[in-house]
Amino acid sequence: MKISVIHGPNLRLLGRREPEVYGSDTLEDINGFLSELATELCVEVEFFQSNHEGELIDYIDDASSRVAAFLINPGAFTHTSIALRDALVGVDRPFVEVHLSNTAGREGFRRRSYLSGVAAGVVYGFGVQSYLLGLRGLVADIGGSGPAK
Ligand code: DQA
Repeated sequence: MKISVIHGPNLRLLGRREPEVYGSDTLEDINGFLSELATELCVEVEFFQSNHEGELIDYIDDASSRVAAFLINPGAFTHTSIALRDALVGVDRPFVEVHLSNTAGREGFRRRSYLSGVAAGVVYGFGVQSYLLGLRGLVADIGGSGPAK
């Protein structure tokens, strides 16, 4: 079973982007941690990052024929993109939304998510662990062949 991990805009800057908010791990580091966990959970992962809303939507459409589910950090598109929400609903695959930072404790405009209401689950505020907890939750949710929970 394969899971797609999607990183939205500006996440390729991780490591040097506001480290006091997002930590010092790079996107490559995060993908490495996810790959290790995926092996432990007996699932495959593929990764995609884009700064462009339309590219993310095209990718979701394309990937949906080969993946069982999505793990997504939509970045700022979380708070703005009805189109991204519609794409994820449209391909009919479960997804988990993750954020490094605690978006509920930041600026007011980060408190609204267009995706949360249609996600299988949401994890935020735990830094890199948000991704790892999100992957665990997603695999459990879709009944992955991972080790006993
Ligand atoms: C983020 C939170 C968003 O509000 C922000 O726009 C990001 C990163 C996070 O992981 O904490 O780009 O998704």
